[in-house]
Amino acid sequence: MAVSDPLPLLAKCPVVPVLTIGDAKKAVPLAQALLAGGLGTIEVTLRTDAAIEAIRLISQNVPGTIVGAGTVTRSSDIDKAIKAGAKYLVSPGTPAELARALAAASVPSIPGCASASEAMALADLGFRTLKFFPAESCGGISWLKSIHGPLPDLRFCPTGGIDAKNAAAYLALPNVAAVGGSWPAPAAAVAAGDYARITNLAREAKAVRG
Ligand code: 3PG
Repeated sequence: MAVSDPLPLLAKCPVVPVLTIGDAKKAVPLAQALLAGGLGTIEVTLRTDAAIEAIRLISQNVPGTIVGAGTVTRSSDIDKAIKAGAKYLVSPGTPAELARALAAASVPSIPGCASASEAMALADLGFRTLKFFPAESCGGISWLKSIHGPLPDLRFCPTGGIDAKNAAAYLALPNVAAVGGSWPAPAAAVAAGDYARITNLAREAKAVRG
């Protein structure tokens, strides 16, 4: 079976807010605030007890938003996330068993890698769009430029250390499909319920690629 392709999801919205939601009650207003600023593809990390419920609430109540599950680290996360309504899955790194489970999942995945060998192992399974994480710590733009020559068919979604200052430079690279990051929804603004600020940051992030 062919691996599902996440590129159509990312083409709609090449800046993906990465959200770590501690209180599920904040999930819907947060997704709505990001959508109002033009960011309709979001990732909710499975790092909190509230994450699965947050995915369920967004999926049921914010129809304009495509919600994915991030920080997928175990095969057992996959079913839980899809049942809650996750439309795609993201992993920070991808050991072999997780890679096989993601390849067999019913929704597209963006599996994480940080080296040529990891990228090649994922390409062997049929993945063509990979997360590059943690991008800034692992060589950033220079790594992406270097990998494009030997692995020209692969597209990357770099995350980790990307913000309003460097997002445009990443998105200008031919092998970057999208960028992810927490900067459109800073933890302080989420904690304060400052959704107007989040909408403004989303609008600015959206404008990075028009
Ligand atoms: C993460 O895993 O937290 C994401 O990659 C976001 O990283 P950032 O907070 O550096 O944007």
